[in-house]
Amino acid sequence: MTSLIPTARGVVAGSGEVRLTARSRLSAGTGTEGVGRWLRGVLWQATGLPLPEAREPDDMQGDGTEGDGIALRIAPGLGPEEYRLVSDGTGVLVEGGGAAGVFWGAQTLRQLLGPDAYRKAPLDPGRTWAVPHLTVEDAPRFRWRGLMLDVSRHFMPKDGVLRYLDLMAAHKLNVFHFHLTDDQGWRVEIKRYPRLTETGSWRARTKFGHRASPLWEEKPHGGFYTQDDIREIVAYAAERHITVVPEIDVPGHSQAAISAYPELGNTDVIDTTSLSVWDSWGISANVLAPTDNTLRFYEGVFEELLELFPSEFIHVGGDECLKDQWRQSPTAQARIKELGLADEDALQSWFIGHFDKWLTARGRRLIGWDEILEGGLADGAAVSSWRGYEGGIAAARSGHDVVMCPEQHVYLDHRQDAGADEPVPIGYVRTLEDVYRFEPVPPQLTSAEAGHVLGTQANLWTEVMEDHARVDYQAFPRLAAFAEVAWSALPAPAERDFAGFEERMAVHYRRLDALGVGYRPPAGPLPWQRRPGVLGRPIEGAPPNR
Ligand code: ACM
Repeated sequence: MTSLIPTARGVVAGSGEVRLTARSRLSAGTGTEGVGRWLRGVLWQATGLPLPEAREPDDMQGDGTEGDGIALRIAPGLGPEEYRLVSDGTGVLVEGGGAAGVFWGAQTLRQLLGPDAYRKAPLDPGRTWAVPHLTVEDAPRFRWRGLMLDVSRHFMPKDGVLRYLDLMAAHKLNVFHFHLTDDQGWRVEIKRYPRLTETGSWRARTKFGHRASPLWEEKPHGGFYTQDDIREIVAYAAERHITVVPEIDVPGHSQAAISAYPELGNTDVIDTTSLSVWDSWGISANVLAPTDNTLRFYEGVFEELLELFPSEFIHVGGDECLKDQWRQSPTAQARIKELGLADEDALQSWFIGHFDKWLTARGRRLIGWDEILEGGLADGAAVSSWRGYEGGIAAARSGHDVVMCPEQHVYLDHRQDAGADEPVPIGYVRTLEDVYRFEPVPPQLTSAEAGHVLGTQANLWTEVMEDHARVDYQAFPRLAAFAEVAWSALPAPAERDFAGFEERMAVHYRRLDALGVGYRPPAGPLPWQRRPGVLGRPIEGAPPNR
């Protein structure tokens, strides 16, 4: 049993196995050199086998009896992310329509080698490494298989981000949505606005647990990525065929930026010089002023961002923008009048529409949370549908592209069990099975409309995940179920073989162990993963609460 996660389209088992030994070679054909470098690196760490480059294409094998080899090839005729892996008497051949396909095939090869292939040093240098004879044919269902990580509410140091890129790659996920700014911290260096990180990247203290909790952690929290850190993260992701989509959240979720540059706020409503980076959770009333100054400031931010991130899509947030300050602000009201807008929702549309045009003029595409539909969607904009399917359905019907990430299914900050010892106190219960039975394409869409569903994404908001152990606990094992939904062609939700998935998970947990992932065990949290009662209580009937 191969126990692949995510499961593959077709696996035909053979009999026998390919053995990798000190004499085995790895031949990376034209266009697959980067995958070859990656595979040689991870297998060298785990196995100690050098797998030198074959001198000639048919020199990939050792002597054919003790030391077979691995060959990577581009195969015209396969889709860019499609691959075929053949393990037989001549060795292991991984072919893909593009380097990405070969890379996903190499990930499958790693799974076939067993859990210890995920370690960073060999446990037993003398052991045998074998790949069963078989043929795997595989391709992804969706082209956007995303994970969003919020590094604003709790900062994840660079090494942790690189580790998450490795975890994504191991699950064949390919879009990293990097939530870099929010009320509680600004995390990316912008050279022309140094105070964004000098002031905006740290807060004096932090609300501990749910926003209604009476507890505070009375110590500064912060951190940011330098532009070189970002370049490294983007390059590391690219080596793993992952696109990094940065998010700069506007015009709401901007208190950290306003505290650094008070002129960005609604200065005719409140004294923005008294604001600091927010230390609590929820939705801040402090939103950007809809002024030319604000537009020019953020054009400057995005100019630097475009230099750092080559992705087609740039995320501009757009969610949960409270409009009270705009209602009270003579400046905002004058702008509404001057532009002939109906109301504050239309003002937000105008704001987002400005950046849609600005990004489009620079060859990029804007994506935002589904609130950007309110007041009219900018022409080329795509939507991250988070409040359910409705926003995504409306967007797809009007010809806009959509990433489905409804909070009812794939918000991995939500608790994964109703038990009193579940550590995360927010949201509704979303079990492993709930995530496994998530269907990204709602049945209401025609097939043409469904073509606008680029794919799906799981979101990790980190208000109650103060370190990587907490992030691991919330992400896993549910991210493995999500990856299968995003990659594999599963039947309709009710017909999905969850028991079969759990059987494969028994093997996958060993892989996660080797990777050092602090997942939630099937029997519930371990003693040190629990949280004290008052904060661990489910919130009856409460909406997801941040
Ligand atoms: C969101 O969860 N506010 C996008």
